[in-house]
Amino acid sequence: MKRTLGTCYYPEHWPEEIWQQDAERMVEAGLTWVRIGEFAWSRIEPTPGDLRWEWLDRAIDVLGKAGLKVVLGTPTATPPRWVVDKHPDMIAVDENGNPRKFGSRRHYCFSHMGYLEECRRIVTLMAERYGANPFIAAWQTDNEYGCHGTIVSYSDAARDAFRLWLSERYDSVEAMNEAWGNIFWSMEYNSFDQVDLPNLTVTEPNPAHSLAFHRFCSDQVVVFNRMQVDILRANSSAPIAHNYMGKITGFDHYDVGADLDIASWDSYPLGFLEDRLGAEREHQIDYARQGDPDFQAFHHDLYRAVGAAKGNKPVEQGRWWVMEQQPGPVNWAPYNPAPLPGMVRLWTWEAFAHGAEAVCYFRWRQAPFAQEQLHAGMLRPDSKDAPAIHEARQVRDELVDAPEVQPKQAPVALVFDYVSDWMWTVQPQGQGLSYFFLVLDTYRALRRAGLTVDIVPLRADAFDGYKAIFAPGLMHLPDDIKAELAQSDAQVVIGPRTGARDADFVMPHAPLPPAMPGLDVTVSRLETLRPDMPIPLDGSGAITRYFEEIEGSGEVVLQTETGAPVAMREGHLTYMAGWGDSDAMDRLVALIGGDAGLEMRQLPKGLRTRETATERFWFNHTTDSIEVDGHTLPPAGVVRVPLA
Ligand code: GAL
Repeated sequence: MKRTLGTCYYPEHWPEEIWQQDAERMVEAGLTWVRIGEFAWSRIEPTPGDLRWEWLDRAIDVLGKAGLKVVLGTPTATPPRWVVDKHPDMIAVDENGNPRKFGSRRHYCFSHMGYLEECRRIVTLMAERYGANPFIAAWQTDNEYGCHGTIVSYSDAARDAFRLWLSERYDSVEAMNEAWGNIFWSMEYNSFDQVDLPNLTVTEPNPAHSLAFHRFCSDQVVVFNRMQVDILRANSSAPIAHNYMGKITGFDHYDVGADLDIASWDSYPLGFLEDRLGAEREHQIDYARQGDPDFQAFHHDLYRAVGAAKGNKPVEQGRWWVMEQQPGPVNWAPYNPAPLPGMVRLWTWEAFAHGAEAVCYFRWRQAPFAQEQLHAGMLRPDSKDAPAIHEARQVRDELVDAPEVQPKQAPVALVFDYVSDWMWTVQPQGQGLSYFFLVLDTYRALRRAGLTVDIVPLRADAFDGYKAIFAPGLMHLPDDIKAELAQSDAQVVIGPRTGARDADFVMPHAPLPPAMPGLDVTVSRLETLRPDMPIPLDGSGAITRYFEEIEGSGEVVLQTETGAPVAMREGHLTYMAGWGDSDAMDRLVALIGGDAGLEMRQLPKGLRTRETATERFWFNHTTDSIEVDGHTLPPAGVVRVPLA
């Protein structure tokens, strides 16, 4: 697959006289793709039914004739004011029952039938007009489902849709009461129409109720996206993408991805470091201008798997892009530093190393008006080159020697499952405990050992061919998948909280079942810990935050200083009974990787590597030079070594 560059452009923000020159400069900078249209509804249809496509026709024409391929976004993330006036109750309602007002974006509830009809109408008109346009080479549905906390809505429309959803999921209200354990606190219902959304309850709602609401919200996104996809496919053969986000897990991306041709995501490494990571101060300072060394890579690997969801392909065949790449300081994080010179290039190459087909910089020109005035672009507001365009040109030149990626399966699989994430969210059992971060910590340890990793979904056919499979924290583990892992030839690591709840958030019945067939481990008690009360291991490392007392007949391969088992194994199956700190995780990876015959090497801080079928990459995420295999990597350095 060819490696390409692109940008996000808003012709409606600029005088038409400069479109041509913009297009020529994009081509000069080596860009192939230009994404447009996703926020332009008020210029396409300023008042109901008054359609003004001509400017968009001309913009597509100018860009296309200059040699660019256009990604056309459906404009449904920004319904104009008149749409809201027409359907006042389409607005999403927050957890406190307050409507979220017009005046920014994503002001809609996924369950509102009137808004769905407006979307169906505008997407149909757009698809009919541009479906056969030769310059439209891809589509993007909506923009960033989940951004600004917008897949959750406690509106009347959502409540009605939730009741319907429940009545389809359960045979009867009695069956639902039974499955949820509603006898507890007399929460039983006599009909589905009595069930409300799980907000504003006196104390926490039944976790089964909350989990059902997570599942419902996710399904609503799938339905909304599918509605658009069906219309686009009926009118166009161009591939369809959506731009996902960093650490947004409120909907099952594999389910949305199953309807799309390409997964893409919006990568803002410095914004994420400040806004999403919650890391220790020292880490924030060390990586302030480079971003976290694993966070972007983790999402690249995750979205490669999401890109493979259509047709359940092996993950290395997943098609994915970076639809928005941070080009300089952003405007939305608590602090917004400029990247270290070279990082825009590094981020671009890192995405290519993980299999990206395209990296598109957000945005072409910095806007001197409205919310994102202080968000850098490839050009300054006065149209002069901003630093990012120089780094893009450098990548353009370097791509001549490495124009394509040859993907291959990684030796290690790491499972990421959205339902488990929701279960941990519903019942963390301790402040700051999150499935996402447990999986990310595991990923970090694998990467510190120099491993190339595939992230895989929790699907029975996703595990073939791996030497080691890490599946931490799977609270949700259906029996067929348990059986698949139990039979696998790979070294398999599960735990903690494996299969701890059924699909309706009830504990499997006592006596506690073994963690999985072939692994005689049961959890007799669990505790969560303050961050400042680690449990030291025998040797280096500690358990932090979450720990299970386990019983079983397996071999204890890690234990606490006082002799409590931490990791227990039987054959190729290992149970990890807690959340290890980085030393503990490194020990676990060394142990399992050793038995799996993986080639590992412990990397110095901030150095990361990845292998494709034909090349090995090295990335220096630090502010110091690093030597590796005879190569000197300056700060933000990238080395690409073709494999013999
Ligand atoms: C993304 C969004 C863009 C822009 C960007 C700013 O989340 O899709 O429209 O707002 O952030 O960093």
